[in-house]
Amino acid sequence: QTPDSLQLCKKLKEGSPRKKLPEALIIGVRKAGTGAMRFYLDMHPYVEIANAEISFFDFEYENGYEWYKNQLPMAMQGQLTMEKTSNYFHNKKTVDRIYNMSSAVKLIVVVREPIERTVSDYLQRKLKKSENDDIEYPKFEDFVIDQTTGEVDGSEKIIKPSIYYKHLLKWLKYFPLENLHFVDGGNLILNPYEEVKKVERFLGIPHCMTQDKFVFSSTKGFYCVKKNKGRREETKCLPETKGRRHPLIDPVVMRKLKDFFRPWNEKFYRAIGRSFHW
Ligand code: A3P
Repeated sequence: QTPDSLQLCKKLKEGSPRKKLPEALIIGVRKAGTGAMRFYLDMHPYVEIANAEISFFDFEYENGYEWYKNQLPMAMQGQLTMEKTSNYFHNKKTVDRIYNMSSAVKLIVVVREPIERTVSDYLQRKLKKSENDDIEYPKFEDFVIDQTTGEVDGSEKIIKPSIYYKHLLKWLKYFPLENLHFVDGGNLILNPYEEVKKVERFLGIPHCMTQDKFVFSSTKGFYCVKKNKGRREETKCLPETKGRRHPLIDPVVMRKLKDFFRPWNEKFYRAIGRSFHW
């Protein structure tokens, strides 16, 4: 970092803080790394991002914009207000509502290899369910395979969000592709610096998230961030619920899933003009 950019990356203190509607949103995809991207952007001096998912455009819309603004953090002049709700991308109601708020809003979509995302979604739901009752949760393989046809059940709730192309079409009816930025969720795990830098560029904010802010934790097995607390420096990681160990999947089911997602992935690559090589 040059002295100029160091100066640029100091916390903004001009004017008085205010509440406003977001200029940028992380809209999904759930279990693709949305929490990590939120966590990293939260450190950026030009970003004020809500700590929790507000779910305004899917579930709380009737509360109105004033209510929404109140849920969002205060921002100084020059700071972007942001929010992350990972179900916006695949929810049917959200697109035109977001467009009505602002046709210029910048939309960030974290995507991950669709089978990995599906497994992650399964583990998340299984954990939530077992907190509430003792009934044994079905195996992953039974969840994704239709018992009558023996094929992948494309209507299953953990499969649907992974069919990125179908959801993308809905967004492209309202927004030009330039309004959307796709984060490679696989690379976000391996090289968050690179993915965050691309997001900084997309958002048009200075490059403040330098390489030294990211530290790999060998105990966690993921990257964490360095935070200054007064004079002390500390390392902060995402909670235990992020970065779970995935089970081994039956190879026959794995093959069926690969065959199922391949054509959707190819359509997705064509539509966005970029391949993820899944
Ligand atoms: P797993 O828990 O399946 O590994 P989301 O935040 O959208 O729910 O996504 C969760 C996923 O973010 C995790 O899925 C994990 O792989 C990924 N991830 C990316 N960077 C991470 C990080 N620094 N720490 C923990 N998980 C991270």
